Amino acid sequence: MSKLTQLPAWRTLWNHFSRARDWHMRELFAADPERAERYWLQAEGLTLDYSKNRISDQTLTLLLQLAEEAGLPEQIEAMFQGEKINVTESRAVLHVALRNRADTPILVDGEDVMPKVNSVLERMGRFSQAVRNGEWLGYTRQPITDIVNIGIGGSDLGPLMVCQALRPYAHPRMNMHFVSNVDSSQLKETLKRVHPETTLFVIESKTFTTQETLTNALTAREWFLRQARDEAAVAKHFVAVSTNKQAVAEFGIDPANMFEFWDWVGGRFSLWSAIGLPIMLYLGEESFLELLDGAHGMDQHFRNAPLEANMPVILALIGIWYINFYGGGSHVIAPYDQYLHRLPAFIQQLDMESNGKQTMRDGQPVDFETAPIIWGETGINGQHAFFQLLHQGTHTSPIDLIASLENRSSLPGHHEILLANLFAQAEAFMRGKTADEVRAELTAQGLKGEALEKLVPHKVFGGNRPTNTLLMSRLDPRHLGALIALYEHKIFVQGAIWGINSFDQWGVELGKQLAKTIHAELSGKCGPAEHDSSTAKLIAFYRQVNGAEPAPSPAPVKPSQAQPQEA
Ligand code: F6P
Repeated sequence: MSKLTQLPAWRTLWNHFSRARDWHMRELFAADPERAERYWLQAEGLTLDYSKNRISDQTLTLLLQLAEEAGLPEQIEAMFQGEKINVTESRAVLHVALRNRADTPILVDGEDVMPKVNSVLERMGRFSQAVRNGEWLGYTRQPITDIVNIGIGGSDLGPLMVCQALRPYAHPRMNMHFVSNVDSSQLKETLKRVHPETTLFVIESKTFTTQETLTNALTAREWFLRQARDEAAVAKHFVAVSTNKQAVAEFGIDPANMFEFWDWVGGRFSLWSAIGLPIMLYLGEESFLELLDGAHGMDQHFRNAPLEANMPVILALIGIWYINFYGGGSHVIAPYDQYLHRLPAFIQQLDMESNGKQTMRDGQPVDFETAPIIWGETGINGQHAFFQLLHQGTHTSPIDLIASLENRSSLPGHHEILLANLFAQAEAFMRGKTADEVRAELTAQGLKGEALEKLVPHKVFGGNRPTNTLLMSRLDPRHLGALIALYEHKIFVQGAIWGINSFDQWGVELGKQLAKTIHAELSGKCGPAEHDSSTAKLIAFYRQVNGAEPAPSPAPVKPSQAQPQEA
């Protein structure tokens, strides 16, 4: 048994759950007029209404006790102190240093990282200012009008999500493009919309070994050189962001055009580092610094607020209540804001790559559920697509409904409709509609007898479906920074309580290794390797369709590997 499941609070929570599982939120609200007052938190311009959850004061007390018993306060401090909490890679985890606007020293191996953080930030500022104000010119002495970011995963989703979320702050001359997919259609379509003389490519890769990114970057370089016909012109149009100086140089980008970050920044936590360069180029240094300020504010709240008034902690504990006790395997992110339409994808990587783990830090297998499946879409579009399942399906999935209160850019009348829908959905998910209410409604519509009774079960909504309503004062750089940091810390808290390492991602490696071998086979660079019969057939089929010579027969599978051994 894991340490977690032996903690006194864990056991008490199970006892508590045996009673709580039958609660209905309708009754909890009816019995307690103060409920919304109490389950309401504000921090850094964000307001969280967590009253529409299947919780009571006792649930929260026990969950908070669990956090204490699991050593959460010490683990939070260990991260902020620069301890090597990424134990499988022996690295500190210091995205908080990247936005440490107080500039207090943070030590890694005895060295304060703040001077180098500040120095890269200043370089990014100078460079982006030069590009934005037209001092940085392309090889035909024209100002840059288009930025193409080439990167994938954390080197794509963060900058992409932020640039789209804060589009009203963008430089009027600048167009922003993101290419992540090695499927050439994305790059091809992007290149159709830009011109080599006025385009700046930002090649982003923490490792600078990622096949998709390097392939896209090479193709973009070839495309550029076909027009420019001068290797020296590359320096005006290609910059790199990476931790790997050598690989950047080998690729052919002058290290003078490289913006550095460090191994203590996880890819999915890297938008605050030089990986945020496209954000700065598009939105300006001031907006980028405000984004950092907002995140820093949330960091301070997370580090200093008592656990019971700590927004990331409360969100994380409520999540644990569903994941580990109710067995809820999914969690929906539903922003009621078109500008936030990539937030679900961003949080999906953040959460699932961090906490999608089955082994604890001590190497023991978990004996409880870890990260839920994160999915979502803008709330209003979701309402007309998958919300049916969320209301009446057999799965219960907690939902975060996110919006900004103020929307200065909205056309008259739109924002009220949006917010009315959000509040209505939260209410509907909570209360549902009983058979009696359905009957009354149908009777009022003139239905009766058998026809009415036939319809009743289909129109009943069980309700009791949990939501968090999360409101930003307004969608601006500062509040977006706070919102992202909120989710980062929520995920940290869950990982800390589960005792897993939220900062590695070994699970992505096997597919990468196999893809290398199979790529060599598909392109005919090497003969068939040893595969299962399905994979071998797929490879042969692809080669046949693409007119390749039939490959020699695969090496026979050793008998010991052919059949699983019976125990
Ligand atoms: O394969 C997963 C991953 O390593 C992510 O963790 C990372 O954000 C992404 O690939 C991109 O990696 P890189 O920035 O090194 O190209």
